[in-house]
Amino acid sequence: MKKIAVLTSGGDAPGMNAAIRAVVRRGIDLGLEVYGVRHGYVGLMAGDFIKMELGSVGDIIHRGGTILRSARSEEFKTVEGQQKAIDQLKTAEIDGLVVIGGDGSFMGAGKLTEQGFPTIGVPGTIDNDISGTDYSIGFDTAVNTVIEAIDKIRDTAYSHERICIVEVMGRNAGDIALWTGLTSGAESILIPEAPYNFDDVIQRIQNGQERGKMHSIIVVAEGVCSGEDLKNEIKAKAGLNTNVIVLGYLQRGGHPTAYDRMMASRMGARAVDLLLDGEKGLMVGWKKGQLVNPSFAEAAIEKHEINLEDYSLARSISI
Ligand code: ADP
Ligand code: F6P
Repeated sequence: MKKIAVLTSGGDAPGMNAAIRAVVRRGIDLGLEVYGVRHGYVGLMAGDFIKMELGSVGDIIHRGGTILRSARSEEFKTVEGQQKAIDQLKTAEIDGLVVIGGDGSFMGAGKLTEQGFPTIGVPGTIDNDISGTDYSIGFDTAVNTVIEAIDKIRDTAYSHERICIVEVMGRNAGDIALWTGLTSGAESILIPEAPYNFDDVIQRIQNGQERGKMHSIIVVAEGVCSGEDLKNEIKAKAGLNTNVIVLGYLQRGGHPTAYDRMMASRMGARAVDLLLDGEKGLMVGWKKGQLVNPSFAEAAIEKHEINLEDYSLARSISI
């Protein structure tokens, strides 16, 4: 193993830059040449490689987004697309690849390994929905960004006695909604992993109003329904007016927290160590406070699970 490459794929997440930095610096420290691939799998198929030096990753540990850019590619899902990528890697004499991304990106990384190219995955997505790991880089920052936003929304909700619906990201997972709903004291949290019904949301608003609490915050995960759909349901069923705030990309940007920088540094460096040990087809995960290295196949079996005890806790203490 003399030359390795690193790419970022799927939705950008705060801490991806810190992970790129760790891969590049660890690689160079251990005597490797390191290349960055621009635009994820799109750039991999096009051979869009740039040589990374120690200075290429200077001054990025604190920056959100990804200096390598990210992309999604339908073509890469085909065998022909994957072969194109492997041909480009072979032409550039690259021996191993680190893919920083989410579940989808790991499916692609798994395909490269199946076709004989050593690939290691580093989990990076705000959704925290990756199988085989308790934690994905970007989640902590996104959660902190969302609660800062909800705290501000709450000031207006309180002052004007309004009901505010905050729609958060997460694709099919409710981790962002659960963590932000619980830690911002939202009156209702709707997540795809737990049964929900709109009557219950209305009941909780009305219970508060009967006690004289005229404002409410409802956090809804995009995997349940849109904030607008929830607003329409509440209006139709109870005649209550609500305000919808869709936080959108606000959740994906910004300076990574210390926790994300730490996890990115640990995970990025571990990915390089695994390649140097001759490993392939593994992801770097975090389980019970330790780095683990399940294969993509092992990880896929073990679906990431949300902590439903926290969901019950939120229902019990946020009234
Ligand atoms: P994330 O990695 O954040 O989950 P996506 O699901 O959009 O994001 O996946 C990122 C990219 O990974 C896709 O655009 C595609 O190029 C690649 N990918 C996803 N699924 C597969 C698959 N089954 N086989 C090969 N590549 C895939
Ligand atoms: O996976 C990260 C994520 O931000 C999800 O939470 C969201 O559903 C999706 O990406 C949005 O993707 P985009 O707007 O980049 O297509």
